[in-house]
Amino acid sequence: MRLLTAAVTSLALTLGAQAASAAPVEIKFSHVVAENTPKGQMAVKFKELVDERLAGKVEVKVFPNSQLFGDNKVLEAMLLGDVQMAAPSLSKFQKYTKTLQIFDLPFLFKDMNAVEKFQNGPEGQKLLGALQKKGLVGLGYLHNGMKQLSASQALKVPSDASGKKFRIMTSDVLQAQFEAVDAVPLKKPFSEVFTLLQTKAIDGQENTWSNIYSKKFFEVQPFITESNHGVLDYLVVTSAEFWMELDADLKVEVKKALDEAILHGNSIAAEKAASDKQKIIDSKRSQVLSLTDAERAQWVEAMKPVWKQFEDQIGADLIKAAEASNN
Ligand code: LMR
Repeated sequence: MRLLTAAVTSLALTLGAQAASAAPVEIKFSHVVAENTPKGQMAVKFKELVDERLAGKVEVKVFPNSQLFGDNKVLEAMLLGDVQMAAPSLSKFQKYTKTLQIFDLPFLFKDMNAVEKFQNGPEGQKLLGALQKKGLVGLGYLHNGMKQLSASQALKVPSDASGKKFRIMTSDVLQAQFEAVDAVPLKKPFSEVFTLLQTKAIDGQENTWSNIYSKKFFEVQPFITESNHGVLDYLVVTSAEFWMELDADLKVEVKKALDEAILHGNSIAAEKAASDKQKIIDSKRSQVLSLTDAERAQWVEAMKPVWKQFEDQIGADLIKAAEASNN
């Protein structure tokens, strides 16, 4: 009888273990933007592809709009295993590496083609591994687009920004960029920007057309200067621990789905920027201002010294390589 009980118990344990091992691997993908953005659409595509190809083996759950974690918490949560994937903007990694600050240097990339060229080149590819020592794996770059300046007053020349409060992402380079025009930068999470603008706690912010549109910043910012002064792109990341423990065959499939989803996100980013800009213009809630060459030159002159300030942290050669991608 005792033997039988032992056999039954052992069988139950085996079955239990099998059932447990058969549970799909869960990938929680946390991000802060709306679904109708390049990042939102990339995450949706990734889920679709994984559902299609790895049903029962891997399950992707997407949490947009800072529902799960805001940008200042998500990387810590990832290292604790509470979330498996995210794509924070490249400006939000400075606690983990200084080299990615390159992407924040004002007026470094002339357009998104230059950004793409740099990211796909040897230096850009090497930067994907910049977080390795910190337990994070860079899986790929994702585009959003060039940043514009929105404000409660028209910003045409740098002195127009003087004394005004601007929300920035958690980046010392962005802080220096606004200080270079005598403005007051404030590091705040993305989820708070609308309310800060609406209540006039701040005067302005910098962001891409799709973020300004999808988060309705244009409804509370009467002016947007089309400055294209910097880039807002993302690094898709996971934790080294999760990635290492993922079964090798599944990893290949997950990476393939992710690469395809990133391509999809990147392929719609430029069109999204153009159409969201147009929707903002059509809304008449905000006036879109363009800069003359002479006005733009003033912003460049005021902000470019920031490069020198961060050259030691980023590396002069890396800055040169990024500059060369404009040719
Ligand atoms: C921001 O904080 O302004 C952006 O990083 C949000 C995002 O993820 O595009």
